[in-house]
Amino acid sequence: MAEHSHKGHHEEHHTSHHASHHATHHAAHHTTHHESHHKESKALAEEEKEEEKMKEKREEFLPWVEKYRPKTLDEVIGQDSIVEAAKAFVKKGEMPHLLFSGPPGVGKTTVALAIAHEFYGDDIASNFLELNASDERGIDVVRGKIKDFARIITMNKYGFKIIFLDEADALTPDAQHALRRTMEIYSDVTRMILSCNYSSKIIPPIQSRTAIFRFSPLTEDDVKKMIEKIAKAEKLDVTEKAMDALYYISEGDMRKAINTLQGAAFISKKIDDELVYKIASRASPKAIREIAKLAYEGKFEEARKRLDTVRVHMGMSGEDIVLQLYSEVLNMDIPDEQKAFLIDKVGEYNFRLVEGANEKIQIDALLAQFPLAKKQK
Ligand SMILES: Nc1ncnc2c1ncn2[C@@H]1O[C@H](COP(=O)(O)OP(=O)(O)O)[C@@H](O)[C@H]1O
Ligand SMILES: [Mg+2]
Repeated sequence: MAEHSHKGHHEEHHTSHHASHHATHHAAHHTTHHESHHKESKALAEEEKEEEKMKEKREEFLPWVEKYRPKTLDEVIGQDSIVEAAKAFVKKGEMPHLLFSGPPGVGKTTVALAIAHEFYGDDIASNFLELNASDERGIDVVRGKIKDFARIITMNKYGFKIIFLDEADALTPDAQHALRRTMEIYSDVTRMILSCNYSSKIIPPIQSRTAIFRFSPLTEDDVKKMIEKIAKAEKLDVTEKAMDALYYISEGDMRKAINTLQGAAFISKKIDDELVYKIASRASPKAIREIAKLAYEGKFEEARKRLDTVRVHMGMSGEDIVLQLYSEVLNMDIPDEQKAFLIDKVGEYNFRLVEGANEKIQIDALLAQFPLAKKQK
């Protein structure tokens, strides 16, 4: 069970801080009072410096998705109606059970954490529990944790604690029914926030007992706003085209955009679109578009050569290439019948690749299909 009390890390460090503090304190007893006082404050100042350095080190190695995760609802980018509703809960000091649904990397966990921060502030550790339903040990462990957490009496002014259950759609329907009963038993002292990719995979009795919030993929403006913020803080020079590339590869998934940016920054502080595509193992859409066009026009050898370069240079798998070809075929300026023919072919070759056929042969064979599209009337 991945159970991150978000205070966890801090508490660990505090413990070591106290331990070293005690050590200096004891050593000081052997000297005169004045001296000891002086030494102690000096030791404390040094300790603080040390602590500061440690903090910097920790942040240096912190993945940017954590380092730049919004702490408050105001910092959350996009998802306006959801943020607004969440703010209203905090203002009223009351909240129903919630169901967050939507694709990965769009702020579900972030909003849940921000809500908890806004409700409980520094007391978050004793009032907020994060669980992941997809961890192997199953519903009994989840229910056990919820029960233990709900039973600890905490005095907060709202009268309830919050449990965040991630990947709730990983639970079988039976497990979800068990979860529903647990939700009901403890609903006077807890509020659940369930998170899932598809709300349709959540049983109706849970759906009807929760307020459903549908998260959308983030917009181009949303993603670029975050990239700009990080670029400024990390002193990166990100070109306009690199911004476009980061949004293109992210498909509205902020986690993907940030991770790709961090990967690129690891190589260079100056980030252009080529570096972004290389890090993401994606070809530029333009390169793939040209290859599709060459193949369509029957320039098979040229198309094949270019595709091979892209494949090796970007370290792309056959499946990656077929997926990008799919998007570019959809954008091609050709009659619908021809487009349908090509999409059908792309699907067929994708299937062959998934089944384990030789990548190079299958990709070449797919390119060979492109001029045949013209025969479709
Ligand atoms: N709406 C958003 N505003 C700002 N940052 C976001 C947003 N959504 C995602 N992120 C960034 O992407 C990372 C992953 O977001 P998270 O909330 O964990 O996604 P998920 O929807 O998969 O739970 C976060 O650490 C955060 O930095
Ligand atoms: Mg999440």
